Amino acid sequence: METLKPLDKLRARREKALLGGGEKRIASQHSKGKLTARERIDLLVDPDSFEEFDLFVRHQCQNFGMEKTVYDGDGVITGSATINGRPVYLFAQDFTVFGGSLSITYAEKICKIMDMALKNGCPLIGLNDSGGARIQEGVDALAGYAEIFWRNVMASGVIPQISAILGPCAGGAVYSPAITDFIVMEKKNSYMFVTGPKVVKTVLNEDVTTEALGGAAIHTSKSGVAHFLSNDEEDTMLLIRKLLSYFPSNNMEAPPVVPTQDPVTRLIPELNETIPENPNRPYEVLDVIQPIVDDGEFLQVMANFAQNIVVGFARLNGHSVGIVANQPRVLAGVLDIDASVKAARFVRFCDAFNIPLVVFEDVPGFLPGSSQEHSGIIRNGAKLLYAFAEATVPKITVITRKAYGGAYCVMNSRHMRADLVYAWPTAEIAVMGPQGAVEVIFRREAQNSENPEQVLADREAEYRETFANPYRAAERGYIDDIIEPAETRFRLIRALEMLANKKDSIPPRKHGNMPL
Ligand code: HXC
Repeated sequence: METLKPLDKLRARREKALLGGGEKRIASQHSKGKLTARERIDLLVDPDSFEEFDLFVRHQCQNFGMEKTVYDGDGVITGSATINGRPVYLFAQDFTVFGGSLSITYAEKICKIMDMALKNGCPLIGLNDSGGARIQEGVDALAGYAEIFWRNVMASGVIPQISAILGPCAGGAVYSPAITDFIVMEKKNSYMFVTGPKVVKTVLNEDVTTEALGGAAIHTSKSGVAHFLSNDEEDTMLLIRKLLSYFPSNNMEAPPVVPTQDPVTRLIPELNETIPENPNRPYEVLDVIQPIVDDGEFLQVMANFAQNIVVGFARLNGHSVGIVANQPRVLAGVLDIDASVKAARFVRFCDAFNIPLVVFEDVPGFLPGSSQEHSGIIRNGAKLLYAFAEATVPKITVITRKAYGGAYCVMNSRHMRADLVYAWPTAEIAVMGPQGAVEVIFRREAQNSENPEQVLADREAEYRETFANPYRAAERGYIDDIIEPAETRFRLIRALEMLANKKDSIPPRKHGNMPL
């Protein structure tokens, strides 16, 4: 047998390793409309910036004849690269090698780059396409996942962690992404489940399709597991690059500033007409947000889930902000369980990564009723309260219309440590809406009168006159100013400048006890 020279041996081994599970499996991956792990990395990172580690790592499993099938790299590609010139660490699971399933050596490769990302204060990106723990490895594979999970937890709030789901992901391949900050699911080929339909049929005798069990539509609209739905793999990578542009590389840095031509003092006259005269008529809150932010660019997070609240990233005079806004067009912008949890997680991310919060408030209250009560609106609504109260980043609120009841307190009120609170002249701030309030406090008077309906109507008008405006709150100093809507962009930018050096803290403690 001819022995290769050292350099030729390296080249030959590298060339083979770069093919992962081999050409046939690559063709099968392509035939499903999926890219290979290496093609994905190429799309994600700056050209020629990828530095790979552990290409020659092999699994050590001897069970079920596994020793006969060994691939260099063992089904996961790991390394570092730059995105928009900033360093990141990443891994890409290779479905062509044992379905991307995780062995202990594969886990060690991921742990190595997780440790490096944390030590160097760089974001971590995972491109997931994996059947979960490699069944043939037994407890070794489970140990590997657990090693990844605790590292995800240690990195949480220290470096941004982003997961893309690009294939059928099961078991540990979904729990690690679940701990990360953002999950992007590709529309056509991505699935997330604890275990797939075949096992569901065996264990529960339940017939369910892959799509209905854990497709991208389900997780971005119903379960709230994933944050973004992308159209294809290229779109996924563009989205990750864009998302990262709003974040600092770690919790000790400020987000990058992106210079803009959009004038600081730009007035938006149409905002003076946005709020309908009838307080029960809805309007589109994106028509408030988009004209205010730089160049109208707003990256909505969880756009299809709990649409009664809108959250996302934008910039004001080049500085990243996290926006939280009630959406009057959906359920009148009421706070329910899903909306509270969605917004709470977003607020905590922004707070962890020094991204100031801007709140647009128009909220009739918390959603009452047995369905919400029995599912824990108290516990879940309290999460949003907790998140706003705990946040120490600059916090600004603009009350555009309704600010009623507990929802007034929760939505970043002055009393919850908001730094600046502005109200539009259309603001209504009270314990509850006029109709409900009058029913409670004047019902007896109405019943005892000759014309109950007239009494209630008169009292409602009186209540509206007294409370359905921002002046009571302004007289008490609970809001800092009543502003013309057209000036909102300029006022927010000036507020952020005023708060740029804000230092605030929470008492030292191991950790709080958020009502999970
Ligand atoms: C070893 C696996 C594997 C696994 C897939 N493969 N999953 N090998 N361990 N977990 C292999 C298959 O044997 C097959 O090899 C190849 O990958 C492609 O898989 P297919 O089934 O042909 O592909 P597809 O039809 O697309 O289905 C993909 C799938 C399915 C939905 C992911 O393979 C599946 O249901 N796998 C098991 C998922 C699961 O229940 N995992 C949970 C593990 S427990 P060949 O050679 O035949 O092509 C876990 C616990 C962690 O992760 C801890 C959590 C807290």
